[in-house]
Amino acid sequence: MVTDSLPHGEEKFSAVQQMFDRIAPKYDLMNRLITLGMDQPWRRKGLEVIGVGPGDRLLDVACGTGDIAEMAQARGAEVIGLDFAYEMLRGARERGIPANFVQGDAGRMPLPDASVQAVTCGFALRNFVNLGEVLQEMGRVLTPDGRLMILEVYEPKNPILKAMHAFHFNKVVPFLGALFSDEQAYAYLPRSVAYLPSDPEFFALFDKAGFINVQRKVLLFGAAQMITGIKR
Ligand SMILES: C[S@@+](CC[C@H](N)C(=O)[O-])C[C@H]1O[C@@H](n2cnc3c(N)ncnc32)[C@H](O)[C@@H]1O
Repeated sequence: MVTDSLPHGEEKFSAVQQMFDRIAPKYDLMNRLITLGMDQPWRRKGLEVIGVGPGDRLLDVACGTGDIAEMAQARGAEVIGLDFAYEMLRGARERGIPANFVQGDAGRMPLPDASVQAVTCGFALRNFVNLGEVLQEMGRVLTPDGRLMILEVYEPKNPILKAMHAFHFNKVVPFLGALFSDEQAYAYLPRSVAYLPSDPEFFALFDKAGFINVQRKVLLFGAAQMITGIKR
């Protein structure tokens, strides 16, 4: 489902890029506040689930300020972080970890075919202009049997939890954004979920990109989701 009130195409691409450059300095703080500190355990769990470790060359797509990259590197993987927002990458580079942080578009990754054993992507699917294109690229750069792990926000099915979740995203998150970062950006966040396609369309994109065993794990009663898969 896509709503008309949100930008699309090139307009979305530059709006998202500028927004992340703007919010980069307080991005980590806001993440911890919004998720009540759950975001880091989710990232850690994701790396555990796909067994990231020594011998893996891992690409973290839309790496932002490098949370996943740092954890993957600590587990012994060789890490490449890719993001199009310079200021987000500045945050990642300031971690001072031995990872390669590259500025580029997830829809046209500057990597050869079959060059990484694992691909990760945290909370960025909603931001891509063309999700199918990004999944194709993930499939292209992965070696056969390579592992994919994606984290994304989700929506609880239980009506009470769903109402609490909506209140949190529509009221609390923009309030925290106004207080610590950028109200407009954090008002965009709940609306951006509308960019994600319906489940049948969503899973068909993974299939088309060459992934098998694609599974969704629901986290914190549906507040977030983890998608894993294997490159055919
Ligand atoms: C919500 S942040 C997630 C950052 C990080 N993965 C995390 O777990 O916190 C989304 C990131 O996606 C990046 N992004 C969005 N569209 C992109 C694209 N087409 N190519 C590269 N990076 C992109 C943004 O710059 C931003 O850093």
